[in-house]
Amino acid sequence: MTPDPRLGTRAVRRVIYSQPDIECRVEELGREITTAYPDGDLVLIGLLKGSVFFLTDLARHIRRPLQIDFLVAHSYGKGKVSSGEVRVRYEPSISLAGRHILVVEDIIDSGRTLGFLLDRLRSAGPKSLAVCALLDKRLGAPPPELRFVGFAAPPVFLVGYGLDHAEDFRHLPYIAEVD
Ligand code: IMP
Ligand code: MG
Repeated sequence: MTPDPRLGTRAVRRVIYSQPDIECRVEELGREITTAYPDGDLVLIGLLKGSVFFLTDLARHIRRPLQIDFLVAHSYGKGKVSSGEVRVRYEPSISLAGRHILVVEDIIDSGRTLGFLLDRLRSAGPKSLAVCALLDKRLGAPPPELRFVGFAAPPVFLVGYGLDHAEDFRHLPYIAEVD
């Protein structure tokens, strides 16, 4: 691999999804979502920080009126193993009652974070509630709300395109495996 100046002294093992792979799949997902919501108004809820690149790219491929808000929750800390504890730091400020909510998530691992947040969003009384995840490691049973998946990911630790390890690597335009 030619050295990437974005990495500095850090290293990745190998690229799993290249920038063109991601661009192509995100465009397709945008088309799938456009078709799936014929009656229009959508609220995209991005789970920060991991979904930020995915959400902004995806939103521009959805040919419907939509609004964007965010949820900030933490389950991982600095390690690579899910702690199981979820803490919410910011909740959507726009009204969700009676709206089509589409949660935009970077990666589903155990699914614990998502399960917890879906319970919370369900209590806001949306018209519909669905999830679009860029990557699905399929470790646990997927929630019934998981309607759109970019890639079925291998069970390795991935960074880039929003995904971090201890806050590094988020800005890589590709997704790579780290040691
Ligand atoms: P879960 O609750 O176990 O499903 O964990 C989901 C969250 O853990 C994701 O939203 C990510 O923030 C983080 N995560 C899980 N797997 C990875 C990975 O391979 N790379 C980076 N972050 C990950
Ligand atoms: Mg996340």
